Amino acid sequence: MARFIGRNKAESGANIVIDDCQIIDLPRITDPRGNLTFIEGGRHLPFEIKRVYYLYDVPGGAERGGHAHKDLKQLIVALSGSFDVRLDDGRAQKTVHLNRGYNGLYVCSMIWREITNFSSGAVCLVIASNHYDESDYYRDYAGFVTDAQRVAR
Ligand code: TYD
Repeated sequence: MARFIGRNKAESGANIVIDDCQIIDLPRITDPRGNLTFIEGGRHLPFEIKRVYYLYDVPGGAERGGHAHKDLKQLIVALSGSFDVRLDDGRAQKTVHLNRGYNGLYVCSMIWREITNFSSGAVCLVIASNHYDESDYYRDYAGFVTDAQRVAR
């Protein structure tokens, strides 16, 4: 499993940085009949699984995301096809290309994310630490940056 540098600091709210978002290598059972990957709560993710949703039938050129979460943690997996996830903690940015069903991108709280460059037929699986709650969203980038930069680093 990938290491979560600074995860405890991030969870305490003392220090949240882009490097807390890392690729998790998920288990892979390869088989001539087709490969199998599984994700077990409490074992493969640094949060309790409360919700699963997925993006599909994404038209060419479309962008998803464009928001941050105050508390929610997520794992993003390209179940099929590929896409780019741009992450921004209010100071630093990085873009991660996802194209393997056995690689999950852990996205911690207080990270602005934009998902772009969906390939044809791409399916984006998201495993989340809580139920849907609109009050947990930042949908205004300037407001997010103000709050993110207020956090001591
Ligand atoms: P949003 O999170 O903005 O989508 P994305 O980040 O993938 O671009 O959600 C789009 C809409 O779907 C919004 O009206 C809220 C609704 N929604 C739910 O009702 N439940 C959910 O679990 C999610 C993720 C979204």
